[in-house]
Order: sequence, then structure tokens, then C-alpha cells
Amino acid sequence: MASLPVYFEQRLVGTISVDKSGPGFTYDLDWIGLRGAFPISTTMPLKSERIASDTFLPWAANLLPESEQLRTLGQLLGMARTDVIGLLSAIGGDTAGALSISQPGRTSSVQWRPVGKPDELENIIEDLPNKPFLVGEEGVSMSLAGAQSKLAVAVDEDGCICVPMNGSPSTHILKPDSPRLWGSVQNEAFCLTLARRMKIPTPKITTGQVGKRAYLLAQRYDRMCADRRCRRLQPGSFTRFGPMKVNGEARSDQKGSVRTFTPAVCSRTVACPTNEIRHSVPAIRAGGRSV
Ligand SMILES: Nc1ncnc2c1ncn2[C@@H]1O[C@H](COP(=O)(O)OP(=O)(O)O)[C@@H](O)[C@H]1O
Ligand SMILES: [Mg+2]
Repeated sequence: MASLPVYFEQRLVGTISVDKSGPGFTYDLDWIGLRGAFPISTTMPLKSERIASDTFLPWAANLLPESEQLRTLGQLLGMARTDVIGLLSAIGGDTAGALSISQPGRTSSVQWRPVGKPDELENIIEDLPNKPFLVGEEGVSMSLAGAQSKLAVAVDEDGCICVPMNGSPSTHILKPDSPRLWGSVQNEAFCLTLARRMKIPTPKITTGQVGKRAYLLAQRYDRMCADRRCRRLQPGSFTRFGPMKVNGEARSDQKGSVRTFTPAVCSRTVACPTNEIRHSVPAIRAGGRSV
């Protein structure tokens, strides 16, 4: 691979290039000179020199998912799961934060493909473990960290769930229930609601059910939407700024890293809300209402 561009919306931020020591990143000089330019991470301040692999690669690897999802993606794309840059070239169009890899990011909703019927969404959810992030579908390119299946989606003004296409931004994250983690949707909804009531800033969430499958729909905190336009925000400076080892597999929660607050923190102590708790939280009780 010669080089891979990284964009903030339509602007080139820099280029990923691979040399014998591995993949590195070089900011575009026009980007550095731009008013309002931001670094891709606090570990990589704006400068004209190439940023070496030992700093850049852990950041890039953390845009990818983990465990089973990463393994499946590698198989489907015919790439090693350690091939961070190869994988990002295929699925890095919509990532955590403001950056789009390989293709410019759009801000408009024109390219949102509505998921028409509930059974279509149920089929998408059922297929996700075998087809993480809908990989291979024409015009779809997205990646999110984490071990659980999830999908970056957009919710249009009629409340319809859509698949973002051709660089258009996602606005929400859809996290289906997990056969391996019973009650995960209710638990996550409970923890986020509890956090919110404790005045901890949390994304807006709703829960839903399609056929046999329940899901959590969380508004993205790294998007700002108004009037059918969505700007991408770069939260990198607080979501991930520590060194994380890359071994192609287990990278999360390692020493020195700062991860976003997620209900996983709570799931260690609260396996599933009891009935008592369930009845005190409207989103769980109503099974689909915004909280
Ligand atoms: N509401 C959200 N807004 C923006 N990004 C999110 C949101 N929820 C999750 N993410 C992104 O997805 C990643 C994984 O989410 P997480 O909830 O930790 O999933 P998992 O349960 O698989 O670990 C986060 O590190 C973050 O980048
Ligand atoms: Mg997580």
C-alpha cells in the first residue's frame, strides 16, 4: 500500500504510510496551517515530521474492534487481523471520533439507506456476528472498538434507523442483545440511566425490540446534528490517550489507557437488573422509550 489518506470531513488531515519500521502518520502541511486544526490524538501533536509506528499504530489499532469481530473481519477481508492499516483501509470510513480513513467524510444525510421493516433490522442484527459492520456491502465502511457486536447507524428525522453509506456520518450506535451476556441491553440502559440521574453526562439512549432481538440505541457523543447535517467531533483527547500494546487481539483496558465510560463498568457488579430496579427505570419498563 503506497499511502492512505485520513480526512476530517472533506479536508485531508494527513497520510498513513508504511516503511520498514511499520505504519506511520504524517500531517498534511495545509492541515497544520489551518485555523481550528486539531491533532488526531494528544500523543501526536501537530508537527510536520512523520510520526513513527510505535506512537501511531496503537492509536490506529484502537479504531478496530476486538476478539471475535476482528477475527471474522480479517477472514472476510482476506487480511491478517494484525494488518491494522489494511483493515482500516476497508472499514475506516466512519470511525470513533471525527476522522474518516481512505475516503472523505460527508456531513449530509443524503446517503442514509433506511432499514425499512423491523424484520430487515432483525436480519441485520442476526447476521452481525458473521458480518461485522456489514462488511462487504457496497458503500458501507465503518469501524468501532469493543468486543460486542454493534453497528454505527443513523436515525433520520422520522426516527427511522438507516445505514450510512458512501462516507455519510452515523449518528447512533446500535448494540444488540448478546446471547453470551444475558440482559446486556437492559443492563446497559439501566446503568446509563442511573449515571444520567447522578448527573454524569451520558449519551441519550433508547431501547427497542425487533422480533426476537432487543437492542440499545445510543446517540453518538462524537456527532453534532442539526438541520439534516451532522458534524463529526474529535473526542480523541479524552477517549484514548494512553499507550496500548498491539498484539492483534486483546488490547483493551491495558495499563496507561483511558477508555470511555461505558456500562461495562457496571456489568461486573450488576449482572442484570433485578425486577425492583427494572421497575424503577422507565426505559427498561417501557422497553423502547427514550430516556
Ligand atoms: N454513544 C456513543 N457515542 C460515540 N461512540 C461510542 C458510543 N458508544 C460506544 N462508542 C464507541 O464504541 C466503542 C465501544 O463501545 P463499548 O460500549 O465499550 O462496546 P463494548 O461493549 O463492545 O466494549 C467505544 O470505545 C466508543 O469508541
Ligand atoms: Mg468497551
